[in-house]
Amino acid sequence: MTVILDQTVQLPYEEAHSRIQALALGCAEHPAVKNPFYDLWISQELTADQVELVAKNFYERVRRTPIRIALAFLHMTDITARAETVENLYDEMGHGNPAKAHSVILKEFLEGLLSRLRGRPVDLDTVAAPVLPSTLRLIEQSEKVFSSSLPQEVCGALLAQEWHAYPQLVNLYEGVRNYRGLYGFEEFHENCEFFYLHIGATEKQHKVHALSTAAKACASVEDIEQLERGFSTYLDLLAENWAEVYQVLKAG
Ligand SMILES: [Fe+2]
Ligand SMILES: [Fe+2]
Repeated sequence: MTVILDQTVQLPYEEAHSRIQALALGCAEHPAVKNPFYDLWISQELTADQVELVAKNFYERVRRTPIRIALAFLHMTDITARAETVENLYDEMGHGNPAKAHSVILKEFLEGLLSRLRGRPVDLDTVAAPVLPSTLRLIEQSEKVFSSSLPQEVCGALLAQEWHAYPQLVNLYEGVRNYRGLYGFEEFHENCEFFYLHIGATEKQHKVHALSTAAKACASVEDIEQLERGFSTYLDLLAENWAEVYQVLKAG
């Protein structure tokens, strides 16, 4: 017997919330989150050239995070969802203090690490490491999905961004610990502000908000399907990016 689901069937908020939470939890098994790059990054120290490639490509996409969030704000309709999204953007922009904008703190950390590895000051804007095709594709395509005319698709992409961010930063931080010998004992931790602020609090809150934002956008099975499309599009772009970074590291 074939059961045909009525796509327009209405879902109460709690039902939408629990379905979307299950989807979000599933990202732990996606190659955006579980991949050979993270295994390599955590298991050993890489060369300066390799760290530069990782740093350049990570920074290029992460510095566009406020743009993705701003696009999400423009392309969603629910007032609570919009208010939560503004709070996320406010975090990314350092609560109004440009010196604390997340992209600024990240750049300082990466340049500090590369400068120690190279034994000379390094400016991430002028390093030789290329921005890989999958990084450019991730930037372009993600801005497309964050600008979708379907608010559910936008909320799905935001959900993926916020739910993959926590394990991403835990994995990256664990790998960064391989280089703590380049720093003084306390100095290493002083330099890890970017990781600590995300792992400690910020990303936990973003996960909660992205979930409630997504649940508010979904009133039917069809809405959930659109949300899933945005969610997997963004995770697939991330997975392709880590896969290419890994391939280039192995080839070099
Ligand atoms: Fe951030
Ligand atoms: Fe976040």
